[in-house]
Amino acid sequence: MKSGLVVQESVSLMPRNTLRVEVMARYYTNVTSVEQLRQALAWADERGLETLILGGGSNLVFADDVDALVIHMAIAGCHWANAANGEATLVLGAGECWHEAVLYAAAAGYRGIENLALIPGTAGAAPIQNIGAYGVELSDTLVSVTALDSESQDIVKLSNEACEFAYRDSLFKRQPGRYIILEIAMQLSRTRSLALGYGDLQQYFSGREPARALTPADVAQGVMAIRRRKLPDPAQLPNVGSFFKNAIVPQDTWEQLRADHPDMVAYPADHSVKLAAAWLIDQCGWKGYREDKVGVHNRQALVLINHNGGTGADILALARRIRDDVQARFGVELEMEPRVVPAGLGL
Ligand code: FAD
Ligand code: EPU
Repeated sequence: MKSGLVVQESVSLMPRNTLRVEVMARYYTNVTSVEQLRQALAWADERGLETLILGGGSNLVFADDVDALVIHMAIAGCHWANAANGEATLVLGAGECWHEAVLYAAAAGYRGIENLALIPGTAGAAPIQNIGAYGVELSDTLVSVTALDSESQDIVKLSNEACEFAYRDSLFKRQPGRYIILEIAMQLSRTRSLALGYGDLQQYFSGREPARALTPADVAQGVMAIRRRKLPDPAQLPNVGSFFKNAIVPQDTWEQLRADHPDMVAYPADHSVKLAAAWLIDQCGWKGYREDKVGVHNRQALVLINHNGGTGADILALARRIRDDVQARFGVELEMEPRVVPAGLGL
């Protein structure tokens, strides 16, 4: 029955997180509508339980069993609105698969999110850390986020500006659990320029068709090919993508670092400088490191791998050693990208 809430007790989250960490949810439910979501929140509230919203589990590190009601977001929906003059708004339910939506928009000839192909997870999680890749961020096209504010129980519509997006950051990331995202809307266009400036993309398309002949579907395919070369498939090598954010430092810190390390990789970022964390970790010799259960990917030093039944604690212990090494060698503090649950067990 669509509106009926089914709550299961003691459910393994191993198949529901891409690090394949074995932890148990005390309670678990799947919601396919706002009505079910409200029922789930009320059910937890009556029992004095915390809740955790779960999408694809590709940006979560479970450090212990989850003593809460885990609410798996499965609200579907995909439609176009306001189509005119080659522009249209793509509206996605929070439970939709992000990558499928990218391919769908690109196949329809709409530009704006093709560089974000193959990012795992759901549409509803995309605003949380303002997903980004290959020179594009969600915030470049996002028009609004519709969410249930768990404090007021109201459904609110937040504009792009209200979401306070920044690099791998947003209002939602800073207040975990407050806003439960129901729907996102993005403004796409058939005519805007394709974003081909990222080094890997330039290289990929050089010598191929001239840029003007490329379609958003071609760009999505290019991004997928590049990503498959570098990033491990979580189905084979469990991971959560980049484990740390690239570090943003003031210009003068960068000048000092560059004087000591002329090869350091960095990019300009709004009056500051973004340091390639992968380079810092790589220089400390961690790339390809492997212990019994966990390790560092051999093609991307920012990606930690759960090779063999490691726990969240095993992954976090390795992350701590890497972070401390980078701090000791370069004086740069790396910040974790995924969310640790429970938060108190984070780095
Ligand atoms: P989950 O991991 O389930 O949840 C992440 C956070 O969002 C949690 O705090 C959760 O509570 C919250 N959340 C989820 N859904 C909702 C909702 N509807 N409402 C409110 N809160 C919610 N990220 C990038 O930015 N760029 C990349 O290039 C990239 N590449 C990746 C490559 C790999 C191989 C992997 C494994 C991950 C990568 N990621 C990347 C990280 C990840 O895919 C994104 O952060 C993605 O948006 C997470 O989606 P999810 O549905 O799996 O979220
Ligand atoms: N590099 C190394 N060693 C490595 C890997 C990279 O020295 O092992 C250096 C290279 O010089 C390379 C540079 O670091 O040019 C940057 O590497 P890459 O292009 O792979 O990007 P990244 O900064 O490591 C970021 C995002 C990824 C996103 C890619 C593509 C962060 C934290 N990560 O990685 O996002 O897919 O750019 O845009 O910003 C994620 O967030 O989970 C994620 C995978």
